[in-house]
Amino acid sequence: MKCKKIVLKQMYNGFPKKSDFEIVEEDVAEDLQNGEFLYESLAISVDPYIRSLVGAGYKRGDTVIGSVLVRVTKSKIEKFQKGKLLVLNCGWRNGGKAKESDVFFVRDDMPALVPETAGLGLYGIAGLTAWIGWILVCKIKKGETIFISGAAGAVGNVAAQIGKIKGCTVVGSCGTDEKVEFCKNIGYYAAFNYKKESGSLDAAIKRVAPKGIDCYFDNVGGSFSSTILRHMNSGGRVGVCGSISAYNETTPVLAPILQPTIGKNELILQGFRLRSHVSNYREAYEDLKKWTIEGKMKNYEKVTKGFENVPDAFIDMLRGGNVGKAVVRL
Ligand SMILES: NC(=O)c1ccc[n+]([C@@H]2O[C@H](COP(=O)([O-])OP(=O)(O)OC[C@H]3O[C@@H](n4cnc5c(N)ncnc54)[C@H](OP(=O)(O)O)[C@@H]3O)[C@@H](O)[C@H]2O)c1
Repeated sequence: MKCKKIVLKQMYNGFPKKSDFEIVEEDVAEDLQNGEFLYESLAISVDPYIRSLVGAGYKRGDTVIGSVLVRVTKSKIEKFQKGKLLVLNCGWRNGGKAKESDVFFVRDDMPALVPETAGLGLYGIAGLTAWIGWILVCKIKKGETIFISGAAGAVGNVAAQIGKIKGCTVVGSCGTDEKVEFCKNIGYYAAFNYKKESGSLDAAIKRVAPKGIDCYFDNVGGSFSSTILRHMNSGGRVGVCGSISAYNETTPVLAPILQPTIGKNELILQGFRLRSHVSNYREAYEDLKKWTIEGKMKNYEKVTKGFENVPDAFIDMLRGGNVGKAVVRL
C-alpha cells in the first residue's frame, strides 16, 4: 500500500519553517510477520518536544517524531486486532506497518464524552504529564497556591483542572488576553498575560498570588521561571516539565542565578520526564477518565484538518496559536 510520511528536509535553524518539512510517499508491504500490524492514522499530535529533540540524534531525512492516534487495519498480534485504537510512537505518518514496541498506549475505552483525539491530549502525553507533575512530583495539597506557566496549553489546561479538583488555588500565565479569559473559565483563580507584563512581572505575580506560591508547574523555563521562584513560599516544590521559552533560540539563553533563592527558601526542584513513569500511566489515565465522567474535567483542543497541514499546526503551536492540545485530524 502507498503511505505518506513527513520528513525533516533540513535541520531547523531557529524557529521551524514550513520549508523544513517535506511529504514523502513510501511503499509499505502488506504482508505481515508475527508481531506486526498495519494501521491507518486518524490524528497526529504536534508537541514542543519534537522541536527540542533536534540535535539529539535526530537528523535530516528522518521521519518527524511524534505520537499518532491510529486504527489497526490488519494484524498478526492477538491483542491488537483490526479496529483497535492505539497511540503509536510512529512519527508523522498517515498509515503504515508497526510492531508492539511502537505502541505507546491502547485507547479503546475512552469515555464517549470526549472525541477520539483526546487520546492525544487529555488522555495522551499532555494529560499524563500534568498528572505526574502534580501528583507524583510536586504532591500538591488542598489549600495550596499552585502556579502553572503555559497555563492554557495542552499540559497546562489539564494541570489546572487537576489542581482545582485537588482543592488548590490555581494561578498561571499565558501569552494572550483570550487565553487569560479561557483560563478563568476552566478554573484558574487568576491568570495574566506574560507578554503584557514583561516590565512588571513581580507585580503581576503578586497580584495573582498575594500569599506566595507553594508549587510551580514549570512549562516555560528561562528568566520568567527564575522570577517565579523568587515568589515561592518556604519549602515550595517545583516540577520542571519543560523550557519552551528556549527551544527556538540559536544561542544559549541566560537567566538570573537561582541558587540564593533556592537556598534561602529551601525550595525543592525536580525535573521529570513522562517516559520515566510508564508504571504510572494506567493510574493516571484512570483518574483522568473518572474525573471526566464525573463532569469535573474537560478535553480542550485545537484541531487542524489534513495531513499536509501538520507542519503548519506544529509551527502554529510553537507560536502560541493553540488553546488546549494542538492536534491534526486526518
Ligand atoms: N517532561 C515531559 O515529559 C513533558 C511532556 C510533555 C510536555 N512537556 C513540556 O511541557 C511544556 C508544554 O507542552 P505542551 O505540549 O502543553 O505545549 P502547549 O503549551 O500546548 O503549546 C506550547 C505553548 O508554549 C507557549 N510558548 C511558546 N513560546 C513561548 C515562550 N517563549 N515563552 C513562554 N511560553 C511560550 C505558547 O503559549 P503562550 O501563548 O502562553 O505563549 C504555546 O501555546 C513544553 O515545555 C514541553 O516541552 C514536557
